Amino acid sequence: MSIDRNMALELVRATEAAALASARVMGRGDETLADQVAVDAMRSSLNRIEMDGTVVIGEGERDEAPMLFIGEKVGTGSGPQLEIALDPLEGTTICASGGPNALSVIAAGEPSSLLHAPDTYMDKIAVGREALGAIDLDRSPTENLQAVALAKGVPVEDLTVVILDRPRHEKLLAEVRAAGARVKLIKDGDVSAAIATCSRETEVDLLLGIGGAPEGVIAAAALRCLGGEFQGRLKPRNQEEIDRARAMGIDDVDARLEMDNLASGDVIFAATGVTAGDFLKGVRFRPQGALTQSVVMRSRSMTLRYIDAEHNFRYKPA
Ligand code: FBP
Repeated sequence: MSIDRNMALELVRATEAAALASARVMGRGDETLADQVAVDAMRSSLNRIEMDGTVVIGEGERDEAPMLFIGEKVGTGSGPQLEIALDPLEGTTICASGGPNALSVIAAGEPSSLLHAPDTYMDKIAVGREALGAIDLDRSPTENLQAVALAKGVPVEDLTVVILDRPRHEKLLAEVRAAGARVKLIKDGDVSAAIATCSRETEVDLLLGIGGAPEGVIAAAALRCLGGEFQGRLKPRNQEEIDRARAMGIDDVDARLEMDNLASGDVIFAATGVTAGDFLKGVRFRPQGALTQSVVMRSRSMTLRYIDAEHNFRYKPA
């Protein structure tokens, strides 16, 4: 079975709706508001799509998230059964401060195709197509940099590595710098950074370091459609998170997770830029409307479609 190819185009309406809603409150310094409006808009848009969807990566568990929680049913209830991984606003802090690379994202797959990851951390490595097969999360950052440089036919000094700017990455950062690679420290948004490894325009070769596990699954789904590679390992912070992972079906919490463990089979992915970013333009408001830019991808065909949309609020209020 494969997912109807029009489904990705349906899902992009939901990422557009969430992007339009959150971009409206960009820079207000209110993360909760930015997230809430994105969730509300995405949810009502998803529920108009003819599908029997179940959120497997969402805004948290039922008790902590009022909407789009893990296990929530979305769609009209009839139509194809789909597992949905979503982040209505990836980069809440970015949006609240008007920074770059905030996105609204959805990945979808057939039942049992996406890892049901708990809301914990994940150690990550991601590269684009040219370095496929060259990375191994079990090797040191230096060894991975050398292998990627060899695969790309460039010196390590020409590689650019994206790392989340966090105290936990002090040692990683020192090693990457000592190896001679260029570094781009980002404040937030490692889904966008993982996708950037697959674009020639962005000058990003690797993503390294620890970020959110749900974002890891979403990034792996995107890289599956882009022909890149993503590996991860859960980094639970306490016994409760370990138990949660086991309850969600992950028996070996320490296992290295490869593409097939994270996002397998026929996967579709849609993202809309909220704020201006490396590979997508952000929402630009115009009199009575707004412009959005989205990307839609499908692993089966590996087609990448950019969708520039002009929204007219006179006919369809945002
Ligand atoms: P949100 O979408 O929840 O705002 O996540 C932003 C983000 O930067 C992710 O891209 C990243 O994976 C995660 O947070 C890192 O977590 P932390 O901020 O706790 O280091």
